[in-house]
Amino acid sequence: MDWGMRNRISRIIRPGTGRTVMLAVDHGYFLGPTSGLEKPKETIQPIAKYADTLMLTRGVLRYTIDPNDAPPIVLRVSGGTSILTPLSNEGVTADFEDAIRLNVAGVAISIFVGSEHERQTLLNLSELVNLGERYGIPVLAVTAVGKDMNRDARYLSLASRIAAELGARIVKTYYCEDFEQVVETCPVPVVIAGGKKITEKEALDLTYNAVSRGAVGVDMGRNIFQSENPKAMIQAVRAVVHEGAKPAEAFDLYRSGGIST
Ligand code: 5RP
Repeated sequence: MDWGMRNRISRIIRPGTGRTVMLAVDHGYFLGPTSGLEKPKETIQPIAKYADTLMLTRGVLRYTIDPNDAPPIVLRVSGGTSILTPLSNEGVTADFEDAIRLNVAGVAISIFVGSEHERQTLLNLSELVNLGERYGIPVLAVTAVGKDMNRDARYLSLASRIAAELGARIVKTYYCEDFEQVVETCPVPVVIAGGKKITEKEALDLTYNAVSRGAVGVDMGRNIFQSENPKAMIQAVRAVVHEGAKPAEAFDLYRSGGIST
């Protein structure tokens, strides 16, 4: 692996712990002004500093994040659909040169294995990997987005492995029963999405279970930014991911309001 690729991956997965807390705030690219992200700047700015990496679109990046004080960015570069149309019909939405200009640590694209548009989205990933490898920018593949996707270990292993085979440097998937199987059969690091909002304690359990079973961390959105206290919640998630806190300890941290910094 060349220096640039290694350096960028180290800006996503922290070398100190080998883990990451990615804050996913890209939901508007198909959901529009979704709950908690109606005014992205107000939601994202107070918590961005607690994220190892921010995952978002270039539109929200440009108007929300100060380039003088930005965490590493994983740029969402797939889209072209909305919740009103088949989600799987995605294309690549950002020019690779723009990703370079934005000095991103990585780019992210969804694949829809088993959908009508499986081939198209896998070829989108492959083309992005060709560019990413040329310029030393890791590609993160997002699997199993959408309510129609079957999120069991068999399906998630299939989708995650295909993403890695096509060259994704990091795979984002969902936690499931027998999650070890997904991680063990995927040769690149795996992060999990949080999914729909659940209680804070449940989200911390989910985080703990995922990292205990081999995930390198989370790329979590709604369970942080839809929390009653997003700042305390992201700190609690960090405690589990980076400090090995048990869910109960992390939940205490959440309930205490986090550490004020
Ligand atoms: C959608 C995404 C989102 O970033 C992802 O779903 C993570 O967010 P959440 O934790 O809210 O599920 O990649 O395509």
